[in-house]
Amino acid sequence: MNITVVGTGYVGLVTGTCFAESGHRVTCLDIDPAKIALLNAGGVPIYEPGLEELVHRNVKEKRLLFTTSYAEAMKDAEVAFIAVGTPPGENGDADLQYVLAAAADIGRHMTRACVVVDKSTVPVGSAERVAAVLKDTAKHPFDVCSNPEFLKEGAAIDDFMRPDRVVVGVASEHARAVMAELYAPFVRAEQPVLFMDIRSAELTKYAANAMLATRISFMNEMAALCEKLGADVDMVRRGIGSDRRIGHPFLFPGVGFGGSCFPKDVRAVMTMARHVGLDFDLLRSVERVNERQKRWLVEKAARHFGSLAGKTLAVWGLAFKPKTDDMREAPAITVVEGLLGNGAKVRAHDPVAREVAAKLFHGRGVELAEEPYAAAEGADALLLVTEWNEFRQPDLARLKGIMRQPVLIDGRNVWDAEKCRAAGFTYYGVGRNG
Ligand code: UGA
Repeated sequence: MNITVVGTGYVGLVTGTCFAESGHRVTCLDIDPAKIALLNAGGVPIYEPGLEELVHRNVKEKRLLFTTSYAEAMKDAEVAFIAVGTPPGENGDADLQYVLAAAADIGRHMTRACVVVDKSTVPVGSAERVAAVLKDTAKHPFDVCSNPEFLKEGAAIDDFMRPDRVVVGVASEHARAVMAELYAPFVRAEQPVLFMDIRSAELTKYAANAMLATRISFMNEMAALCEKLGADVDMVRRGIGSDRRIGHPFLFPGVGFGGSCFPKDVRAVMTMARHVGLDFDLLRSVERVNERQKRWLVEKAARHFGSLAGKTLAVWGLAFKPKTDDMREAPAITVVEGLLGNGAKVRAHDPVAREVAAKLFHGRGVELAEEPYAAAEGADALLLVTEWNEFRQPDLARLKGIMRQPVLIDGRNVWDAEKCRAAGFTYYGVGRNG
């Protein structure tokens, strides 16, 4: 099939590349000429394990093309995915201007009947707005469907190639047949594409993220209770996760959830509810607990030292999670700002988010170290914010030798408390001790 993907962010680029890999001819379009120039020169604008290799292979095989021209991208296109950003607007609503502009351009440049697919995370009812725009601009018959994306940054290729499920909201048999054919290589017979009405598909995306965010806030709240009651949240986590009705994933307490999706989607569900006269009370708490959790590390450090003024704090990990350089709504931002606000000096290291962090913290006196032990040198405490693999087994003897004071605050519960204490450190974990 000839496929067009509008938007070359995480979702668009991964979607386009994976469909090309399954044998289709895919043209990825972006209105940003710098991005397209970079892609055409063999570069990949985002850090995502495995993506670069796949892009190069499919470009070489001439199945994957990049352009800024709708005329070029839409020539003979049978399916057009809209995968552009939906930043939150001022009132908390997702801003649909890019989605609707893409729909208008798709309509204007169609050269044959086309299935137009919303892949961006959009509020319930958006597909109807896309259809209304297409009605005004399209020169050929069209179908609109909703196909939300569930990929995780850092595991995006695998999530796309081996999805837990594919959700597609359709309103016609033709769209259903096209989408079933497109996803056939990626789904198994026992887990076929889940077809449903369009509004349900749109809401499924938000419901999944809001549910996962709720699990995390629940565990962060439980961690606070464990600290007060002298229980170990890691044991409680294992104990409840073994119940098949609960399951193990997404039960890790930590420094709060961040990224471009959870915080935004939790807010979007509350906004959607408000518009129809409902108060999604539970999610208000989820958000509040998360805001509090992002301040946990700084409060722990402040309580240990009495005052952070003049102290040097080392921070390991800045990205909102491992295997990405993404710092959107990263808890590390709250941590670093909290430390600076308390008069501390901050020396941080992240394996890949260094450049992003340098821009973000520009002129604010945050020292960005090239490697983890350089960040810890002379520090009064070491704070673990992002659980990169390279931080999981620290050389405790080395740390002991270079730090000014032996204090470890583990925001992800990845270090062995006993080992740390045996090596002479004061160790704090989340929900593991007072
Ligand atoms: C999330 C969803 O997991 C994807 O399914 C979805 O497609 C995506 O949002 C999206 O809407 O586009 P992502 O934001 O890439 O993916 O990252 P996650 O791996 O879900 O992590 C989100 C945050 O939760 C991170 O800050 C992470 O550290 C935190 N987290 C995760 C915890 O604090 N505890 C956990 O147990 C799991």
